Amino acid sequence: MSRPRFNNKIVLFLVASAIALLATYLFWSFAAEVKALLEQRIRNPSPDTLVTAVKLFLVGIVGYLFVRALNAIFFGLAFRLKRIDAPTLIRNIFTIVAFTILLLIAFTFLFPEVNLGALFTTSAIFGVILGLALQDTLGNFFAGISLQADRPFQVGDVIIVGAQRHTGVVEEISWRAIKIRTFNNHVVLIANSTAAKEPIEVFPRGNLNARIVFFNTLYTDSPAKTIHVVREAVREADNVSEKIPPIVRIRSLGDNGVDYEVKYWPIDYAKFNDTDALIRQRIWYAFRRAGLNFAFPTRTLHVERRPISAVRDGDGGAIAERLSAVDIFAPLSADETTMLAQAAVSHVFAPGEMVIRAGDPGSSMFVVHHGRVRVQVSENGRPRTVATLNEGDFFGEMALFTGEPRTANVLALEETEVLEIGHAAMKRVFDTNPDLVETLSFIMAERRQGLATQTDATATHSDASAGILSAIKRFFGLHQ
Ligand code: CMP
Repeated sequence: MSRPRFNNKIVLFLVASAIALLATYLFWSFAAEVKALLEQRIRNPSPDTLVTAVKLFLVGIVGYLFVRALNAIFFGLAFRLKRIDAPTLIRNIFTIVAFTILLLIAFTFLFPEVNLGALFTTSAIFGVILGLALQDTLGNFFAGISLQADRPFQVGDVIIVGAQRHTGVVEEISWRAIKIRTFNNHVVLIANSTAAKEPIEVFPRGNLNARIVFFNTLYTDSPAKTIHVVREAVREADNVSEKIPPIVRIRSLGDNGVDYEVKYWPIDYAKFNDTDALIRQRIWYAFRRAGLNFAFPTRTLHVERRPISAVRDGDGGAIAERLSAVDIFAPLSADETTMLAQAAVSHVFAPGEMVIRAGDPGSSMFVVHHGRVRVQVSENGRPRTVATLNEGDFFGEMALFTGEPRTANVLALEETEVLEIGHAAMKRVFDTNPDLVETLSFIMAERRQGLATQTDATATHSDASAGILSAIKRFFGLHQ
């Protein structure tokens, strides 16, 4: 509870207590006068009984406030000293029992002539009223107690209750009902007595509860490749636990294609809807890059078999235009640019997906065709952004031109299409454009300085550039 709300509650409580105490005190002091006044006006019921009943009522109010204060102090102390956070149900039982005892004491004190024991045991009417009126309430109450004692689930767990499959996160277990918040942010109250009769599926908060997502492929797509591609795509998605690697397996050989399932373990089960959706999205992008295909119903099966190369896709003009706008390719002839465009392969990445991972081997470079990427290095376990690259920028040249592992992570900031250019195509370009190697070595030396931390940036820019130049020439077998 926030501090101002807590203070407001205390002030309200103190004011209510003061008023109740004052009213009781005044009534007690003027009881004789009130009685005399009533005697003049009414005969039945006797003024004596009326005054005592009002006294009982006022004492009841004071007693209730007293019990609430006792409750707050007692459970507040238990939480402060021993970190025991008593459930609402226990607090309510405490209040009800303490209040009933106080009221009974006050009753016997104010009405000594009434034999309460006899009243309870002999009054058939009382029994019937209690039996009928409190049937549901008592049912809920005792079911609530058994839920508290068993503790099959706790606040924060996800549960699915009964045939209607009410699903949500448990917010409260009171003496009457279980309150759950559904994934549409609605509140559902399920009476304890109903819950006690229904099956309840529990997904405890601290437990890794598995989820299963389905997808399919064409019969022509290799299962080994599909399983590898999907497992890699899923394990990197947010909220997928690293403790148990996702499992991808064939579920059945269906009418339209091979049916698969991915079993994964969300870190926070309450977010499974978003995570399932993210996984489907990642599978789509991974399929597109790997040339895998979802299985359509048989009658539309032949309609779409998209080739991966964007040029073969009829997008050649746009690709050649994009490449000719890249600074380093500006000196290339139209034929050379067309050759590069034909060799380029397009890949689409989802926002947040990794295009290049630091430390991996790499034999190609990329040009950002649409979208944006971020270049990141890990420094003391934390990511540091080195650069953000936009449409027309290139990356991945360092590993391609030197044969060394990738120097940084590059991840898509939005849906991003990149054009991948491989070793062979670049070698052909270098053979006819020796100056390009020099320009590139200069850019790479500059980028290396951006990658280095303050302390290890020792080599001067021209030294570094000369070193890279000869490394590229060696790697591509060009004349030194
Ligand atoms: P490579 O090492 O193959 O893979 C990671 C890529 O990140 C790298 O090639 C460069 O293309 C790119 N990169 C590294 N440092 C920078 C930088 N300072 N500015 C822009 N891009 C960079």
